Amino acid sequence: MQLNIYKDYEALSNDAAEIILAAVKANPTAVLCLATGDTPRFTYKLLAEKAIEEKVDFSGCSLIGLDEWVGISSGSEGDCRLFLERLVIAPLNIPASQVHLFNGLATDMDAECSNMDQAIAAKGGIDLMLVGVGLNGHIGFNEPGILTDLYAHVINLQEITQSIGQKYFNEAVAIKQGITLGFKHVLQSKKLIMMANGEKKAAIMQKAVEEEISSLVPASIIRTHAQSWAMLDEAAAALINLQILPDDVVVGHNFSNS
Ligand code: GLP
Repeated sequence: MQLNIYKDYEALSNDAAEIILAAVKANPTAVLCLATGDTPRFTYKLLAEKAIEEKVDFSGCSLIGLDEWVGISSGSEGDCRLFLERLVIAPLNIPASQVHLFNGLATDMDAECSNMDQAIAAKGGIDLMLVGVGLNGHIGFNEPGILTDLYAHVINLQEITQSIGQKYFNEAVAIKQGITLGFKHVLQSKKLIMMANGEKKAAIMQKAVEEEISSLVPASIIRTHAQSWAMLDEAAAALINLQILPDDVVVGHNFSNS
């Protein structure tokens, strides 16, 4: 895994947007899996602006949803579908027929999971996946202790995920379960970016980057992917000791050295 450290959230977001843009310039039919959450918000705003400025056409791309809250009405404030429609699908004009998102209200969740697995397989896999990191180290909704040999699945959310998840909603909601791509999808994606910003992510990013790889810190598993990047702003990287990095972490961009 390459570790890139940026001076601030703007620089981090700008580079992440450039990477997505470059991937689509190189492959106009790229299969993208883009996380929701606060971390990539600015990346998507910049991406939409850059796509217009540079006339990069996303209409041949596919978008795969990473995760969704179970039991939340589709299109309600806070659900992942609405987030992606507003920030990614509409601004980038990705056709609905090429968008595959989880339905958190599906009556048959097993079918919902296998439909997603089949949609990804039919497209030949995910070309570029961008994920954020939960305060407990989760990736998508792959919570600590998760098995790494899973494709899409439904999972009980930890208390911390349920309480932090309230920030996305206008009113208190019961969010006890999530539906998510599994680590098989994550690790089979051709390129993988993990993003984190802000002081609140510093402790978990230190664990993810410095400590032994463990499913107790799902973000650490990203290090086993051959084409992966951890992109952090200085605040999220503040506790990482660059002098004692494990062999599977290589420093790429480090703004303080440039
Ligand atoms: C959420 C989502 C993840 C997201 C992560 C971080 O619960 N399930 O996909 O990446 O937690 O969220 P944020 O970027 O808001 O910190």
